[in-house]
This record gives sequence, C-alpha cells and structure tokens, in this order.
Amino acid sequence: MTKPIKRRDFMRNSAVAGLTLAGTKSSVLQFPNIMVQSGVKPIVISSANGNKFKNGGDMTAVQKAFTMITQGADVLDAVIAGVNIVELDPLDDSVGYGGLPNADGVVQLDSSCMHGPKKRAGAVAALEGVRTPSLVARAVLESTDHHLLVGKGAQSFARNMGFNIEDDLNTDHSRQLWLEWKRRTDPAHYLDPKARAEVWRREGLKMVEEGLVDREHYYGTINCDGINSKGEICGVTTTSGLAWKIPGRVGDSPILGAGLYVDGAVGAAGSTGRGEANLYNLCSFLIVEEMRRGAHPKDAGMEALKRIKANTIEKRLLNSKGNPNFGINFYILNARGQYAGVTMYPGASFAICNESGPQTLACEALLSGKPND
Ligand code: GLY
Repeated sequence: MTKPIKRRDFMRNSAVAGLTLAGTKSSVLQFPNIMVQSGVKPIVISSANGNKFKNGGDMTAVQKAFTMITQGADVLDAVIAGVNIVELDPLDDSVGYGGLPNADGVVQLDSSCMHGPKKRAGAVAALEGVRTPSLVARAVLESTDHHLLVGKGAQSFARNMGFNIEDDLNTDHSRQLWLEWKRRTDPAHYLDPKARAEVWRREGLKMVEEGLVDREHYYGTINCDGINSKGEICGVTTTSGLAWKIPGRVGDSPILGAGLYVDGAVGAAGSTGRGEANLYNLCSFLIVEEMRRGAHPKDAGMEALKRIKANTIEKRLLNSKGNPNFGINFYILNARGQYAGVTMYPGASFAICNESGPQTLACEALLSGKPND
C-alpha cells in the first residue's frame, strides 16, 4: 500500500514545519514525488557535515542520498553518492580530498561500507591518492572475498579497479594547517619521544581551542546510513582520520563493528569522534545488538557512550571531573526508520533527510559540560 506525497504538498509541509534547511542555498528543493509504503518511511541520517557541504552543487549528502533512495536507487549506492559530495569538497577538511594529513603531511584515508540486504561489507584503510575511499571500499565489497584492504595494497587494488591515483590529496588549506602544526611541534627537529607525544596531542587540541581546526574535524569523519521504503538498510563511513596521526594509524572508520555496522534486519550505527575509544568498545556492533534486544536507537546509543565512559580509565584521557576528555558521536537508524544522534557532550549535531527535507538536529548528550572541564 503506497501513498504518493506530491512535491507541492512536501513544499507546503516543509514550510509549515519551519525546518532548518541548513546548508541549502536554494529555497526550492529538487525532490521527486515520494512513494511512502506503509511501514517504513525512507530516511537518511548522517553526521552534521552531511547537511553542510555541497561541493559547488545543489545538494548536501543527506539530500542526495534521500533523493536517490526515493527514486529507487540501491540504498548503498545512494549513501555513497551522498558522502562522495563531502569527500570531494575541499572545504571539508575531515574527509577525502583536502582531509587533514598525517604527521608526515600525507593524506591517508579510511572507509567502510555495509549492505544490509546483501550482508556484504568492504573497507579500506590508510589509503593514499584516491579522493573517494568510500568507492574503493565498495569495490572491495563487490569485487573481492575480503573485508579490508590497507595501505599500498589498497592503493594497488584501487589502481587495478580503474581509480585515478593522485600524488597528493592536500589542498592549500590542509597543507597550511599541517605546516602550522609542524612549526608548533617540531621547531628544532628534536624532542624526546615522551614529550613529543604529549606536545603532538596538546598542540593539536590547542589548535582546536583557537578555532584553527573545527572540533568535529580533529577526528572528523562522515557516516551516512539510509533505509528505503522496502526496509533495506545500508551505511557508509569515510574519513581522513585523526589529524596529524602517526603515519599508518587506522581509526575506527574502516573497522566493521566500530565505525560502522549494519544488520539488515535490525538497523545501522556509525560513528565520528575519537576512534580509539570506539575501537576498544566496538560500539556500532554494540548499538545494533542493543537494538536487536528491543532498545530504541537513542537508548542503544546511550549504552555505548556509558560503555566508553566506564572503560576510559587512563588519566591522560580524563578531565578534572574524571570523565572522558574527548568527543564521540553515534548516528543510529533502526529497521522501522527510527533514528537518533547521540554524543558524549552537548554541542554535536547530526543530519537527517526525510520526506520533510533535510534538517540539522542536536545530538542527545550523555554528560553535561565540556570534554576539557
Ligand atoms: N573516528 C575517526 C577516527 O578516529 O579516525
């Protein structure tokens, strides 16, 4: 049983709802008539950058993915086409082309994707030279028997699959920020190893405090998950990882169960923020399992945040209140189309796009205050 929503009605409903069309330049949204099947209404959820960057086009990531889903595209194709906008946009320095580089000034990218109905996944880590690692992750899913390819092997695979390999994915902006970090942390090319580790972290976070680097982009990433009217769920996560990371460091984004997990019958979860905290707790898997037991996406996400808080015991990772001194966010969608964005501390947001258009919403926080209280 389907009920078409005409574009005219959509525009009227959107106006009545007074939606936040964050990141949209035009007041006219290019959505097709939407076929809503009884049961699940299509929706796309992502990190906040999914409703901010347009790479010079008309649509943000969530708009693009939602439009493709409602036009009948495969859900994974749709969410990947969405995040490609952010990967290719030089203005987002947390993902793909122009992502903040590692400590050697080299942009190394991680990505994973999962197809709920097909029960297949693919991922790449520490990939250099390809602007859209999510497409290489999908090629791993489609063309190999493996889950994860890394480093030079991932790059050779991408070359063999016809991807263009570039020497350098830095933009002027990402290179300038790396040079600034280098100037601050290695002025004399010498520090003892312990001090160096401390200075790397301190100076990186100071650049965030000074507004040079967006707080959300320090561990910046995009996760995007979608469901169509048939209840098919897919997700993708893609990132340049931790800014100024040790070359070869791989975060949570390409690791199934950490940066992304999809179970076609239950739901999807993905993450942005401190990957190491997520990796220790495999939170996307934990969240999907909580939903399997009947938890609402928000409650499932809160469980993961509580797990991270309980397992964060090292002093260097705690603030003066004994709470984690970092941010981490989860974007969660269940098979009924219910969703949530949750975060350790207030201030983070997430994006959705459904029949009412794109919106940027505040994540629900586990704790009050700030990471550095
Ligand atoms: N969550 C992204 C990273 O830690 O690499």
